[in-house]
Amino acid sequence: MAWRNSILRARDQHRRLVPRNGVALCGSFSTVPSSSPSPSPSADSPPQMPRFDYVPKPYKGPSADEVLEKRKKFLGPSLFYYYQKPLNIVEGKMQYLFDENGKRYLDAFAGIVTVSCGHCHPEVLNAIVEQSKLLQHATTIYLHHAIADFAEALASKMPGNLKVVYFVNSGSEANELAMLMARLYSGNLEMISLRNAYHGGSSGTIGLTALNTWKYSIPQGEIHHVMNPDPYHGIFGSDASIYAKDVQDHIDYGTSGKVAGFIAETIQGVGGAVELAPGYLKLVYDMVRKAGGLCIADEVQTGFGRTGSHYWGFETQGVIPDIVTMAKGIGNGLPLGAVVTTPEIASVMAQKIQFNTFGGNPVCSAGGHAVLRVLDKEKRQEHCAHVGSQLTARLRDLQERYDIIGDIRGRGLMLGIELVTDRKEKTPAKAETAVLFEKLRELGVLVGKGGLHGNVFRIMPPMCFNKDDADFLIDAFDYALSKL
Ligand SMILES: Cc1ncc(COP(=O)(O)O)c(C=O)c1O
Repeated sequence: MAWRNSILRARDQHRRLVPRNGVALCGSFSTVPSSSPSPSPSADSPPQMPRFDYVPKPYKGPSADEVLEKRKKFLGPSLFYYYQKPLNIVEGKMQYLFDENGKRYLDAFAGIVTVSCGHCHPEVLNAIVEQSKLLQHATTIYLHHAIADFAEALASKMPGNLKVVYFVNSGSEANELAMLMARLYSGNLEMISLRNAYHGGSSGTIGLTALNTWKYSIPQGEIHHVMNPDPYHGIFGSDASIYAKDVQDHIDYGTSGKVAGFIAETIQGVGGAVELAPGYLKLVYDMVRKAGGLCIADEVQTGFGRTGSHYWGFETQGVIPDIVTMAKGIGNGLPLGAVVTTPEIASVMAQKIQFNTFGGNPVCSAGGHAVLRVLDKEKRQEHCAHVGSQLTARLRDLQERYDIIGDIRGRGLMLGIELVTDRKEKTPAKAETAVLFEKLRELGVLVGKGGLHGNVFRIMPPMCFNKDDADFLIDAFDYALSKL
């Protein structure tokens, strides 16, 4: 009954918190039952987190309330936070985070899919610290081996002739640069991106992004948003050829017949772990190239082995892009992004000086290079495949038992769980998602939220997340669902 009341309260609160356009900012609000439900005597006791022999340092900094007050005052109203009472996270170790009271949480969202090797991974940390002691910054007007070594290592991970690397500081910057390259190389303006995509929040990439929750009303550039080849929600199911035809229609009817390029994530992260219909990219890349455009793969979330089956997301669709953009996991938390392309495409950039003050600075290069080494040494791609398949199998069991789970999707350790109130209509279970989200936090599990309606749980943990963590996550989810 307490849970039923909390859902009603959540629904009421949700109604008050949805923005004017009726769409909730993903995770920008949350609902906590005013009192925790007391499990009935027959209910199982809450699952216990796997053992982890690490004692967090005593925290002597400001409290959550003090931080929140200062943040509200000085960091602007658009900055959102998870949970009704936001967490004050003060330390991280591998797949775990600790709050100000030393409470441990299983981090199943990795700082929005950013911490690839693990929080404060010792080898990455060591590379950063050692480089910081020698030289933090001098810019690329001088030589330094770290940027060249890192570029060589990154290029060795790429297929085909993708051998020229540009370093930037974020995913948005990487996509800005990729779009600039596509326009310069093709001599055309128009870009194509998918509905439900997220490619950044800068004034240029906001046009590529296609989720109204993240778009301000500013000029969006010459951008066409084509039908999303979404096997769960798309009206053509998994039939890639029909979705691809929509791209051809846009080229034929909406442009001069020539385009600058096409950009897509292979699994849409912010959009709720939506994997594109199989075979879609192959068909679309052909069409776009025929129309004079370049094909850009946004690997900001899908790269570096997270999908388990492949190192890069685009490989799951059997294509080789002309430009690949990356960020987040490449730096394990460092502000780092990259664009990789072919020498031929890169040559158009030589018309002017292309400069980025901090892109590829020695500290980020040393850290990013260490990330590549650690992922290889610890065989994280294979690990993501194994743990991901166990997690997916257990999620499918849960799906059989709980009608609210409408869809389980994704690959490796990039998974989405879509919650619906009606499986046929696929009605977003917004209020229930909010309640479960809080309950998982109480149990010590931090997941992400995604999708236009914020009703998709995103499971995208640091890649050191193991089978015991996966079991605990499922047990916690099962426990929370059983009380709903
Ligand atoms: C797929 C994708 N591309 C680009 C971006 C933008 O990256 P950043 O926030 O580092 O600018 C994101 C961020 O979430 C992303 O998920």
